[in-house]
Amino acid sequence: MKRISIIGMGYVGTAMATLVASLKKGKNFRYFVTGIEKNDKHGLSISKKINSGIIPIQTNDENFKKKFLFATKKKKNFICLNTIGGIKGSKIVIVSINCDLKSKSNSDVNLNQFLRSIELVLENIEKNSLLIIESTVPPGTCEKKIVPLIKKITKKRKMQYNDIRLAYTYERVMPGRNYLNSIQNYWRVMSGIDTKSKNECENFLKNIINTKKFPLTVLKNIRSCELGKILENSYRSINIALIEEWARFAESINVDIYKIIEAIRLRPTHSNIRHPGFGVGGYCLTKDPLFGEYAAKKIWKIRNLNFKFSKNAIEINNRMPLESLKKLKKIFKNKMENKKILILGMSYKENVGDLRSSPSIYFAQKCLKLNSQVYWHDPYIDKIKLKKTTKINSLNNLSKFDLVLFAVKHDLYIKLRLDKKLDNTVIFDANYVLTKKQLNMIEKKNINFHSIGR
Ligand SMILES: NC(=O)c1ccc[n+]([C@@H]2O[C@H](COP(=O)([O-])OP(=O)(O)OC[C@H]3O[C@@H](n4cnc5c(N)ncnc54)[C@H](O)[C@@H]3O)[C@@H](O)[C@H]2O)c1
Repeated sequence: MKRISIIGMGYVGTAMATLVASLKKGKNFRYFVTGIEKNDKHGLSISKKINSGIIPIQTNDENFKKKFLFATKKKKNFICLNTIGGIKGSKIVIVSINCDLKSKSNSDVNLNQFLRSIELVLENIEKNSLLIIESTVPPGTCEKKIVPLIKKITKKRKMQYNDIRLAYTYERVMPGRNYLNSIQNYWRVMSGIDTKSKNECENFLKNIINTKKFPLTVLKNIRSCELGKILENSYRSINIALIEEWARFAESINVDIYKIIEAIRLRPTHSNIRHPGFGVGGYCLTKDPLFGEYAAKKIWKIRNLNFKFSKNAIEINNRMPLESLKKLKKIFKNKMENKKILILGMSYKENVGDLRSSPSIYFAQKCLKLNSQVYWHDPYIDKIKLKKTTKINSLNNLSKFDLVLFAVKHDLYIKLRLDKKLDNTVIFDANYVLTKKQLNMIEKKNINFHSIGR
């Protein structure tokens, strides 16, 4: 089995490692995968989990769970270590560590921390190896920052510059039940620093991805790939913000924006126009659009590009949950104190248990500040870090709450029967969760119902 190392065993790295470890060539498994985590409390807890056959991230993908267990416990061709020395023997090293903003409120990227990790990899990677970056980074990072590091470190290690190849391919993995499958059966974009790097990365990806059905897009250079990833996520973020802005206006003049969207979606060119929602969460959309300005100013020294759309989108999207709160304050005539609020769905997305930058958490924090009593329910989440909130496990008695807020379109919630009388409870759909059938039940029972965007 060929050895492959993957640095960073988070949402991306663990899934990629599982996929790579599950691949066969004929009857035999192709690769032995070493996952590398940090040697700190967080990293040690991850490696302990992986080596005991426990997936370190939340997932409801049964196929992922099965393949992970097989690789870590049965075949034992996927292990996790907490030392960078563990990459020894791997001719392919994939980096899927985080590259974060210094703070949520501005576009300053903590690139130095990311580069320190890359430097460590370069000091330990074997001669004649391929380094593949999968992390989302400001465009220009590979060419302007990592290449000089390769030059410096290969010189120090008395190697040739091209003894280490460099390629970039960004991840599009989609949270949910088909998580693992979304790595293998989806279009990939890649490039390399030179032809050799490109070819080696292309050959590797052809072993991993169903490139017959989803041909690779090989771009001219790495900066194009890096830019592609940021543009993809900025495009989505801006679309969300655009509808948010119009939803506010529509609401103010008593226009049902959902009906408008239905009409607009009939045009094939506009068929993916979005609905208004509760907020934007997750790891990527909340940070990636800010990488453009950082890259232009700090890496490429272009002063006159301000990325106003991207910055505004992030700002508007961050504020989204407050719009629901504003509406609720109006409904409760500003008397939020001691109101019993039940939030249905704490994750940032339907049918997943990922809490990163979750709008529900932000909303709950704001409600606590108003001295409301916050209860929450989420079939995918056991606990949250917010003190003074109470998890409930049964949805049988909604009448004990002053407000039931549908925040996430988990399958469980769209199956919920809302056919009981709720005299003193407000139902609020903050995220276009409820189905027509449920809305009919609500209407029949004369329930006090409100929603965002209407
Ligand atoms: N989560 C997604 O759906 C997604 C999708 C596309 C792209 N990405 C990008 O992929 C990258 C990873 O995302 P993620 O969601 O897996 O992040 P994550 O935070 O879940 O995982 C990153 C892991 O890397 C580890 N790490 C950091 N520095 C390290 C080092 N020097 N050595 C060893 N381990 C180290 C961290 O401890 C952490 O466990 C990010 O750049 C992200 O933007 C994520």
